[in-house]
Amino acid sequence: MVSDLENEIEFPEPDIVDEASDPFDVFFRWYSEAEIKDNVANAATLSTVRYDHKPSSRYVLIKEVSREKGFVFYTNLKSNKAKEIFQNPYVSLCFFWTISGKQVRTIGRAYELSDKEADEYFKTRPRLSQLSAWASEQSSPVSSYEELKKRFFEFAEKFNGQDVPRPPWWKGFYVIPEEFDFLIYTPFRLHKRVFFILKNGIWQKSYLCP
Ligand SMILES: Cc1cc2nc3c(=O)[nH]c(=O)nc-3n(C[C@H](O)[C@H](O)[C@H](O)COP(=O)(O)O)c2cc1C
Repeated sequence: MVSDLENEIEFPEPDIVDEASDPFDVFFRWYSEAEIKDNVANAATLSTVRYDHKPSSRYVLIKEVSREKGFVFYTNLKSNKAKEIFQNPYVSLCFFWTISGKQVRTIGRAYELSDKEADEYFKTRPRLSQLSAWASEQSSPVSSYEELKKRFFEFAEKFNGQDVPRPPWWKGFYVIPEEFDFLIYTPFRLHKRVFFILKNGIWQKSYLCP
């Protein structure tokens, strides 16, 4: 009987996404749940647009999320992603929390963080990561993995006995979102999907077919 389906299927429970008028409220709630349940909850795919108009995606770790600064990540300003952002600052970030069964996509504009902000964060990094930041010319060819290790040990020697300074090109971006697309996964394909878009400073909300 078709009417039995209603009882058989586990539809998503009512969620903050149903009642919220501010997408950050949803993000913060979902994120705090994912931090408890999921591995590497702060990993997001960052998509940029290349010089040839083809998209390019890779993971980054989101180190901070706030209404003021949006989504913050750190990287090498000589990397492909940074070059792409300088050419076209519009990016997309997408999280998928497998245990929570939730996906969040944001689209927004990326801005470079200040030297001061990058310095402060770099100081909190483990020393080995600081040395790697010097050793890795991110996105550039290197003759072998051995060569990369050699460079790492050269910088370890160079900065032996002193604090490792931040390489001037090691910095970060913050992404101010203009759109959020929230999805609650269901095994039978009838996911719950809620879209927010910022228009004249006001978030507009709608449900989308999954
Ligand atoms: C889980 C995970 C997290 C990562 N986090 C960062 C990050 O925060 N910043 C970064 O520059 N690269 C990070 N990477 C490496 C990037 O995915 C990418 O390979 C690298 O930044 C070079 O990208 P590009 O050549 O497109 O610039 C991470 C990779 C993984 C798998």
